[in-house]
Amino acid sequence: MSAAEGANQREIERVLVVGAGAMGSQIAMVFALAGHHVTIQDIAESGLTTARKQLEERMDTAVAKGRTSASAAQEALSRLSFTTDLGNAASAADFVIEAATERLEIKQQIFADLDRFAPPHAILATNSSTLGSSKVAKVTHRPEQVCNVHFFNPALVMKCVEVVRHPQTSQATVDIVMELVRKIGKQPVLINKEIPGFVANRLMGVLRDEALNLLGAGIASTEDIDTAAKTALGHPMGPFELMDLVGIDINCMIAEATYAETTDPADLPHPMLREMHQAGNLGRKSGKGWYTYER
Ligand code: CAA
Repeated sequence: MSAAEGANQREIERVLVVGAGAMGSQIAMVFALAGHHVTIQDIAESGLTTARKQLEERMDTAVAKGRTSASAAQEALSRLSFTTDLGNAASAADFVIEAATERLEIKQQIFADLDRFAPPHAILATNSSTLGSSKVAKVTHRPEQVCNVHFFNPALVMKCVEVVRHPQTSQATVDIVMELVRKIGKQPVLINKEIPGFVANRLMGVLRDEALNLLGAGIASTEDIDTAAKTALGHPMGPFELMDLVGIDINCMIAEATYAETTDPADLPHPMLREMHQAGNLGRKSGKGWYTYER
């Protein structure tokens, strides 16, 4: 019996999320709402404080809207704990999902530490949208228990989770993770080979770049292109609204990481995106992107 099969038999109870940013904190809440005990670890105490406050506010809103009862929200919040101590948090985890900064050397350090501290049966996943998990699996002694588990923004709402296996990911790990994703109420999509952008971001990238080309050529305004995507294609947001939600910086980072893999100039960030990034117009997070937001 492999260590991952051991995890299956024990059931995944304790989850560790590494990184308390927008993605990490909401991923943690998804697991807590599904009944898991979740630790959120971050190197910055301030990041943990912000995450806790934002999740409490989200739960208050959910209760006010009648989406959940006050007691269920309180119970879910009480299943969350917050720490800066990675080693201690990892030592009790059955499943770890890393949602830290998209920098390979940082992620490799985290995975080396996780491999050292987490129990042998624990599965180690990365939420990275740009780095295939083979790059972090190779610093561990359990590459067969490593994969990408990629949530979408906002993670509390978006149903899809891409599960991406690398060449050494075992079938047992894939089966456990697919089942786990279903149990937390999400829709897993299995991606059998590491490919830059996986599936959803590749689809999004094509739409985004065409929207930028149409705007750049003066064919239609941002508002009208967004309206077409929403009312003709049924998308919940237009490509410009989506760029602002995801962040212009994140869009550029994804394109740059894709280019680093493919060396295809077509994958480089669109010049209009680069300009916005350099001007500090990052979308919702900075108050200004394609649209202006009240802060
Ligand atoms: N965080 C958490 N919850 C949020 C939220 C946020 N930032 N924004 C909205 N919500 C919740 C609301 O509370 C509301 O919940 P209830 O249904 O329980 O009331 C629900 O989402 C709907 O919100 P609204 O009614 O305010 O607004 P909406 O109907 O316009 O929905 C949206 C907002 C869910 C963001 C929707 O517009 C949408 O689905 N947009 C597309 C998002 C998308 O494509 N995401 C993928 C991005 S790509 C990515 O993430 C990959 C990557 O690697 C970067």
